[in-house]
Amino acid sequence: MKKLDKSSNHSNFSLRIKTQQSISPKAIQKTSETQMEDLQNKSNIQIIFSHEEKLYNFLFPYEATTDQLLQQARKIVPTISNLVTTNSNLAMDYYLQLPNQKLNVFQGRIITVQGVPGLLALKSKTGLRDFIFIKCIGVGGFSRVYLVKKKQSGRFSAMKIIEKKIIMEKKIENIIENERNILAVTQHPFLNKLEYALECPNHLIFITEFCAGGDLLYYLQKYHVFTETQARFYIVEFILGLIYLHQLDIIYRDIKPENILIDITGHIQIADFGLAKPTRNEYAYSFCGSPEYMAPEMLTNQGHNQQLDHYCLGVLLYELVIGCPPFYSEDINKIYENIILKEVEFPKNNQLSNEIKDLILRLLCKDQKNRIGHQGGLLEILDHKWFENVDLIKFLYRKVTPPFQPDIFKPPALQKEYKDGDLDLIRKLLDRSVSGTTMFQNFYYDQSVEMDIKVEQQKFLKFYHQLIEQQNSKMQRRQKIKFLRKTRLV
Ligand SMILES: Nc1ncnc2c1ncn2[C@@H]1O[C@H](COP(=O)(O)OP(=O)(O)O)[C@@H](O)[C@H]1O
Ligand SMILES: [Mg+2]
Repeated sequence: MKKLDKSSNHSNFSLRIKTQQSISPKAIQKTSETQMEDLQNKSNIQIIFSHEEKLYNFLFPYEATTDQLLQQARKIVPTISNLVTTNSNLAMDYYLQLPNQKLNVFQGRIITVQGVPGLLALKSKTGLRDFIFIKCIGVGGFSRVYLVKKKQSGRFSAMKIIEKKIIMEKKIENIIENERNILAVTQHPFLNKLEYALECPNHLIFITEFCAGGDLLYYLQKYHVFTETQARFYIVEFILGLIYLHQLDIIYRDIKPENILIDITGHIQIADFGLAKPTRNEYAYSFCGSPEYMAPEMLTNQGHNQQLDHYCLGVLLYELVIGCPPFYSEDINKIYENIILKEVEFPKNNQLSNEIKDLILRLLCKDQKNRIGHQGGLLEILDHKWFENVDLIKFLYRKVTPPFQPDIFKPPALQKEYKDGDLDLIRKLLDRSVSGTTMFQNFYYDQSVEMDIKVEQQKFLKFYHQLIEQQNSKMQRRQKIKFLRKTRLV
C-alpha cells in the first residue's frame, strides 16, 4: 500500500485528492461497512477505480468533479478516454462522462469504475457500425431516436434515424437538408449540438448530444402547470436560443414542449430543426407545424416571417401556465377555426399576474403586423414588464437554477419505453446487403473536423454575446431607475 500526497505536484489541480491506495476487495468491503458514516461526516466522496484486477480507493472532497475523477484515474492509466461503472449502470455511466459535474451526487454510495481504453482512430470517417444501440428514447413525426454509445470512446449520444423512403414519398428532401445545414452551423448553449450526420443506403442519421432530462412535455405532463417563475425560466432560455437563430435569419417554426430538450443539469436544449427555415427578410409560405401551435398567418397563407415564432412563443407560454394550448379542441378543424377567429381566453379563477396575461395577449395577436416584436424582434419582447427582473447574462451562462432537476440515477429520457419496431429498424439499418440511392452530395458531418465552420460559429457567437450584453444593460438600467424612483417616493 502506498500513500500519495497529490496536492503538491499538480499545481492546477485545485481540489485535493486525499488518498489513493491500491487495496484488496476485502478492504473495500470493510471500508463500506465501518467507515461509511465517518466518510459522510467528512463530506468525502469515495470512488473505487478498478484496473487489471487491482482496486484503487479514491477519496474526493465534497466539491470535486467528474474531470478530477478522470484526471486521477489517468494517473494510473494515462490512455483511458472515459470512465464507466463496473456493473454497467447506464445512468451513472452517462453522468461520469459529462465534463465538470459534481461527484457529490455519489455521496453515501460506493461506486466502482473502470477505464474505457482510448483507442486511436483507425479510419477517417465515422459510420453506423461505430455505435452500439442501447434503447429507443423518442419517436417523432418521421423519426425514431435512440440512445447510442460510441464503441471507440464509450461516449453516449442521441441518434435520430429517418427513413429515406418516407422522405421521398412526401417529397420533403429539402426539410432534411435544412435540418442538417442548420445543425451544422449553429453552436449555442441552448441549442442541441450535432456531432455527426450520416447518410446510409436507406436512412439518414443525425447524432446529437444526448439530453438525459427528456423533453419539456415530460415535465408538463408530470406537473400539469408551471408557476410563472418556472415558466419564465424556460421561456427566457428558449428566447436566448431563438435570438441566436433569428440573428442568423432562421425561423424555427416548430416551437412546442416536445422539441425543448432538458439536459442532465435541467437546462434546455432546443432540438428538431426539421421545419426551421433560413430566410432573408422575405416571407415564407410553406404550411407546416403542429395544429395547436399554428399561427393565423400560416393558416390563411398570408406568408410568414420571424413573427410566426413570436406567436408560437405565446402558445408555449400559455400552455406552460394554463396546462393546454389556447385554442385546444379534439377536432383539428375547430382548432384552426379558433386560431383564426376566436379571441384568447383565460380560464376563470386563474391566478396569473396582469403582466403575463398582457404578454400572452400581445404575443397571440392575430395580426402579425401588430404583434409584439414586429419592430424590435425578440429584444422588444424582452422589454416587456413580465421580464423586468431577469438578468439575461446570468441566464446565458446557465447560472440560474432550473426549476426541475432531473434525477441522475433515473434520468427521464431513459424512463420511456418504445418497443414496437425497434429490432426491425436496427436490423434493416445494419444489414450490409441492402442497397439504396444516394440522396445528398455532402450529407456527412463530423463536428471534430469541421474547423472552418467552428471559426465562423465562434465569430458569430461573439457578436451575439455583445447583443445580449447590450440588451441586459438596458434591462438592468431600467430596473435601477425604477428602484430609485420607488425609494425616493418612500
Ligand atoms: N438529443 C436528444 N436527447 C434526448 N432525447 C431526444 C434527443 N433528440 C430527440 N429526443 C427525443 O425524441 C423525440 C423526437 O425527436 P425530434 O428531433 O423532435 O424528431 P422529429 O423531427 O421526428 O419530431 C423528441 O421529442 C425527444 O423526446
Ligand atoms: Mg419533434
